[in-house]
Amino acid sequence: MQYRQVGKWGLRISTVGLGSYLTIGMHVDDDVAAECVKIAFDSGVNWFDTANAYNKGQAEIALGKLLKGHPRESFVLATKVWAPMGPGPNDRGLSAKHVFEQCDASLKRLQMDYIDLYQCHRPDPDTPLEETIRIMDDLARRGKILYWGTSEWPAELLQQACDLAREMGCRPPVCNQPRYSLLWRNPEGHVFPTTLRLGIGNVLFSPLAHGVLSAKYEPGQPPPAGTRAADETQNKIMMDLYWTEENLRKAKQVAEIAGDLGLTAAQLSLAWCLHHPAVTSVITGATKVEQMKDNVAVGEVELSDEVYDKLCDLFPVPASLAP
Ligand SMILES: NC(=O)c1ccc[n+]([C@@H]2O[C@H](COP(=O)([O-])OP(=O)(O)OC[C@H]3O[C@@H](n4cnc5c(N)ncnc54)[C@H](OP(=O)(O)O)[C@@H]3O)[C@@H](O)[C@H]2O)c1
Repeated sequence: MQYRQVGKWGLRISTVGLGSYLTIGMHVDDDVAAECVKIAFDSGVNWFDTANAYNKGQAEIALGKLLKGHPRESFVLATKVWAPMGPGPNDRGLSAKHVFEQCDASLKRLQMDYIDLYQCHRPDPDTPLEETIRIMDDLARRGKILYWGTSEWPAELLQQACDLAREMGCRPPVCNQPRYSLLWRNPEGHVFPTTLRLGIGNVLFSPLAHGVLSAKYEPGQPPPAGTRAADETQNKIMMDLYWTEENLRKAKQVAEIAGDLGLTAAQLSLAWCLHHPAVTSVITGATKVEQMKDNVAVGEVELSDEVYDKLCDLFPVPASLAP
């Protein structure tokens, strides 16, 4: 396993992290989840991502139980706040009230004393940035969190957050969590250049485009039962963003290139993400032990510039997104 610093900051995380969206505490049985976490630790994965909103707190509860037996210093725990957690007017967003209350609620669900990385799940245009920066700094001063970060924040907002935090004498965000994969190269336009300049790390979500880039789906065929694509309760984003014949065919081309290198399509797709200098880690998700084993192996893969460029050519950045 390889480890990278989160941007310019002192925290070091494995290039592969394990996430829990739709999986741990939701669609994955407890014994499979336990085995995935064991494989993670055994292979050197040292960080885990979750969110308060994943299955309304159940993902945090399940992940917390699985991490409980491990020394606290052996892992980095990241969770999120912003998404609605109840019907009330203060049950969502990035106000001081909601962030403060959800931080405590997350700590209880996780059975932890502190969160390593507390992430704003999305921007909240209705709360002044100043208020969110201040509460994150206060939570850090109280020892409830160590670092704070963002997810899917645009480049301009990240710049503003760093500028304002400096003016206020507060901690700036250290890490952003964007959607990024061969099928979603948008962050290369503005977010990656800005985060590189600001010293903010990037931990990537949906690096396999919800599984499409594992090449397990056959073009022209319905998705097999038991996959995310086949489940209407889980597949909306996948169908909206990635499910085209062309993408399924291209995933097969990734599998061919990967085969020549002794890799799987999933491993090559993850390794491609990790080749970008703005990227700190890929957050993987697994519903099966075999997937977990497949994905963690990318921690040992070094991709040549030649293969990287070949994949870039196969999945070009839309011209509208050029920096
Ligand atoms: N910040 C955000 O807004 C946000 C949004 C989404 C996710 N996340 C985080 O990012 C993590 C990863 O996101 P994601 O689940 O969308 O990632 P992904 O890697 O794009 O998709 C994971 C899914 O693909 C399938 N899969 C994974 N590895 C495979 C393999 N080796 N071979 C075949 N199929 C494989 C599995 O689904 P099936 O077996 O069901 O097909 C798995 O659940 C989440 O757990 C969460 O922590 C954050």
